[in-house]
Amino acid sequence: MKSEPLTESRVEALRAETPGVEHVLHLNNAGSSLPPQAVLDTCIDYLTVEAQIGGYEAIERKSAELERVATAGAQLLNCAPTELAFATSAALAWWRSFEAVPLEAGDRVLISSTEYQSNAFAFIQAAERGVEVEVLPATESGEIDLDALRSMIDERVKLVAVTHIAMTNGMVQPVADIGAIVADSDAYYLLDSCQAVGQLPVDVQELKCDFLSFTGRKFMRGPRGTAMLYVNADIMDNLADTTYIDGQSAQWVDAETYQYAPNAQRFELGEVSFAAKAGFGVALDYAVRVGMDGAAERIAMLSTLLRGQLDELDGVRVRDTGQHQSGIVTFSIGGTDPVALQANLRARGVNTSVLTSELSHLDLAPRGVDAVLRAGVHYFNTAEEISTFIRAIGESR
Ligand SMILES: Cc1ncc(COP(=O)(O)O)c(C=O)c1O
Repeated sequence: MKSEPLTESRVEALRAETPGVEHVLHLNNAGSSLPPQAVLDTCIDYLTVEAQIGGYEAIERKSAELERVATAGAQLLNCAPTELAFATSAALAWWRSFEAVPLEAGDRVLISSTEYQSNAFAFIQAAERGVEVEVLPATESGEIDLDALRSMIDERVKLVAVTHIAMTNGMVQPVADIGAIVADSDAYYLLDSCQAVGQLPVDVQELKCDFLSFTGRKFMRGPRGTAMLYVNADIMDNLADTTYIDGQSAQWVDAETYQYAPNAQRFELGEVSFAAKAGFGVALDYAVRVGMDGAAERIAMLSTLLRGQLDELDGVRVRDTGQHQSGIVTFSIGGTDPVALQANLRARGVNTSVLTSELSHLDLAPRGVDAVLRAGVHYFNTAEEISTFIRAIGESR
C-alpha cells in the first residue's frame, strides 16, 4: 500500500521536529542530513544511561531500542529482521558483502559506471587477482543499458554490482529491471543504495537483490557511524570467508573450529557505538512513519523545481543524467570555482558540497566534468528554501 502524501502541514510538523532547520538551509543531505529531535534525544539518553549504569548493563536495559534497528529496518526494506546486519559505515558493509561473493581468477564481475570510490578499490584488487571486471555500457541518457546487460550475462558472471544513485549524479539506476535480469542467472546482485534509502521506496523483494548496503547519516537522517547491510537469507550457506570476524560474527566452537552466525549477524562486528545504533533505530522507524512514497514525491517536486530554476541562471549547467532523477542535484557554473562558491554559500548559512572528478573516474571524468556543486534536497526542505538558495547563488558567485 502506498504511503500518505507529504502535505504542507505534515512537512511543517516534520520541520518542527528538526532542530537544524532553525540554524541552516541544509542542502547537504547527500553528505549528512539533519536528524529529527527524537534521534538526538535517543542518542543522548543512551549515553547518559551508559554513564550511569555501565556499558554492558545499558545493553540489557536498552535491548528493545537496540532491537528496533532490525525490526524497523525490516519494515522499511520489506525483509526479515534476521536478513539485516548493523554496520558502522556503508563502505564497510559493502566491502564485507563483496568479500562474501566467492570469486576466482577468470570469473566476471559487471559493474555500473556510477560506482562509489571505495567500491572501485575492491574491484581494482579483484582485477589484480585475475577477476575480469567490466563496466556495463550506458544508454544515451546515462543509465545501464539493459540490452547490453542481457547480452553480457553468461555463466562466468558471478556478480553484478550497481550503485543505485551515485554521489556525483542525481540519476537513479533502473535497479528493479536489472534485478529481474540478474535473477535469471547464477550471478549475485549487490546494490550500493547508500544515497537511495531514505529518499525513495526501496523494497528488496522487488529489487531481487542479494545484498544491499546503505548508511544512516544521509537521507535516513540517522547519526553518523551507522549503516546497514541486507543479505538475502537464501544465499547465506554459499558465501566466502570474511577477512575480519569477531564474537558477534561467529562462535568459537572448539580450539580449532569456529562457526559463522547463521544469519546476517555474520556480517556484524561486536564493538559499535550503541548510542548511535539506538538512534539509528529511531531514524529507521521515523522513515517508516514518514512513508517513502510521500517522501519521494515531495523530493521529486522540490528537486525538479530546483533544476528548473538553476537552468534559468546564466552560465549554470545542471549535470545530472538519466531519465529518472533523485533529490541529488549536481551543477556547475562556467568561470566559477565551486569550492569558493560553496564557501560563500556556507557563509550565508547554506550547506552544499563539492565533488570532483577524482571521486568518480567512471562517470564525471568521462563526461568531461571536473567538479560539480551538489545540493541534496530532502522532504523537509521547502520551495521557499529553494528560492533562497537560488538568490544566494546569485549573491555568492
Ligand atoms: C554511493 C555511496 N556509497 C557508499 C558511500 C560510503 O558511505 P560511508 O561513508 O557510510 O561508508 C557513500 C558516501 O558518500 C556513497 O555516496
